[in-house]
Amino acid sequence: MSLDTLRDQFPALQQPDLIYLDNAATTQKPSAVLEAMQRFYEADYANVHRGAHRLSARATRAFEGARDTLAQFINAPQRESVLFTRGTTEAMNLLATSLGAITLKPGDTILIDTWAHHASIVPWQQAAQRAGATLRPIPMDAEGRLDQSAFVALLADQPKVVILTQIANALGARAPLSRWLPLAKAAGAVTVVDGAQAVGHDIVDVQALGCDFYAFSGHKMYGPTGIGVLWGKTEWLNAMPPYQFGGEMIQKVSFEQSSFNQLPFKFEAGTPAIAEAVGLAAAARWLMMQDRTAIAAHESVLLERAREGLSAIGGITLYSAFEDNAGALAFNMDGEHHQDVGIWLDQAGIAVRCGHHCCQPLMDALKVRGTCRVSVAAYNTAAEIDAFVDAVREMREFLDEDAH
Ligand code: ALA
Repeated sequence: MSLDTLRDQFPALQQPDLIYLDNAATTQKPSAVLEAMQRFYEADYANVHRGAHRLSARATRAFEGARDTLAQFINAPQRESVLFTRGTTEAMNLLATSLGAITLKPGDTILIDTWAHHASIVPWQQAAQRAGATLRPIPMDAEGRLDQSAFVALLADQPKVVILTQIANALGARAPLSRWLPLAKAAGAVTVVDGAQAVGHDIVDVQALGCDFYAFSGHKMYGPTGIGVLWGKTEWLNAMPPYQFGGEMIQKVSFEQSSFNQLPFKFEAGTPAIAEAVGLAAAARWLMMQDRTAIAAHESVLLERAREGLSAIGGITLYSAFEDNAGALAFNMDGEHHQDVGIWLDQAGIAVRCGHHCCQPLMDALKVRGTCRVSVAAYNTAAEIDAFVDAVREMREFLDEDAH
């Protein structure tokens, strides 16, 4: 892979004095995505599935073609099981509401890992409260690894739903899905995977994973905001009630009652994010054209460089910095507030995220109020990591001198 050519494809990265290391929050977009959306708006834009005219037919072809591309991207067995959502958050709300309605009863349990994002926790917490069920966290050990013996013990309660985060957004740590999904299934649970952080780094195959549902967002895989995917097994999606009601999702409406459309339309009420779906498909095609094994290797080298650099400084605590982390590394400067580190780095032109990363229960388990997170993508360079480590070291030295 030629990194320079790849980086050249990202207009936002051409601006001076920007080292963008906040990729777990959102990635920058290649020209292929920007141009696909621009072309679509200029040449093929109309509403979908509705118009009698040829422009609408072209827009519908582009939108449904995007669904085919996304099905291929995650190796979904049927295209109609690929639902467009606004992102992982909406996918989780849809699931917690619609799957929750047919699976949860008073006294049931739902398991969720301690790494989970608020977008997974809160919708399922609400679903549990509505049903009189209980949401139980899968604990982690002192190092931040999810605790397998605790997970196995919790499975003895026969949870109805198990929600696992493939890659923790706040830590970059990777869940042992190939071991844990079969355990959850054997215990009779419906399995849900939050793949928001994984799609930009891993080749995802929902059939090989063997989960029942898989959710992700477009904007963390070089695509636009406001669009994501919920994939689910068709037998579940057919059994679930609609999540939102309106145009497109109906079959027949009268003032007395309404019947609903088939998949995927049953879950796509209203005018969808059409150009964003086209942009997301362009991002998926762009990723499928890259040497993704080489990108993953490149990103691991960058993370390892950051880990070594930060470890050598002293007075820095790393969190859950495992060998197989993907994309992100979390740390704190001992005795300093994470936001102050973020401000220092911003003054050096370096973008990272500082805070609780929408993971307050995880921060509680780590016994911190927040962390700094450096997160990489395919276009980052070793020089950028070195500049980041240098800036952290300079801050540490500045503070140590100041203390004397
Ligand atoms: N969930 C995104 C992050 O981790 C926004 O930063």
